[in-house]
Amino acid sequence: MKKLEEYVRCIPDFPEEGVMFRDVTSVLQDADGLHLAIDTMQELIDDLEFDVVVGPESRGFIFGTPIAYNNHKPFVLIRKKGKLPCETASMEYDLEYGTAVIEIHKDAIRPGQKILIVDDLIATGGTTEAMIRLVEQLGGEVVGVVVLMELAGLKGREKLAGYRLESAICFE
Ligand code: PRP
Ligand code: ADE
Repeated sequence: MKKLEEYVRCIPDFPEEGVMFRDVTSVLQDADGLHLAIDTMQELIDDLEFDVVVGPESRGFIFGTPIAYNNHKPFVLIRKKGKLPCETASMEYDLEYGTAVIEIHKDAIRPGQKILIVDDLIATGGTTEAMIRLVEQLGGEVVGVVVLMELAGLKGREKLAGYRLESAICFE
């Protein structure tokens, strides 16, 4: 059987020189790859108790929704600026390439709720850190973060000291 990491295609110098892009589409477009990805992420958080799954646009939606569905929990979208229709909280952050602003509906999380954050990938950790700050601003408690891929060389894990981070694949 093929290993999960073997489904990930790597593209050097995309979207800019010096970046090794880890392409999630090659996992998703294979039925076995998709199953293995979701099942592996699920196993990593099987022991966790949480009330709500939160995931960011756009690749975080792909993995966050099936994890929420598996566990019969709601899924809350974090979107890029200007996409959510109701009152939002927002946060600016740095990425491996560029900066961005993300937003969450203020009424999506109630104080005291336990939150699991799901994304496809952690690189610098900027996105995850910004999501944690947004959730905590609304009174939520982040009990864990699970991603398909961790790019360890970019040291995202160091930004998340004190939080539980699970990754299905770790690339150096
Ligand atoms: C990518 C990826 C993560 C984030 C990781 O999203 O899906 O959310 O970057 O990088 P970081 O750890 O350095 O913050 P991106 O903002 O490119 O959006 P996309 O999913 O819409 O492509
Ligand atoms: N998002 C941020 N950095 C990335 C990378 N190196 N590959 C794929 N997605 C990313």
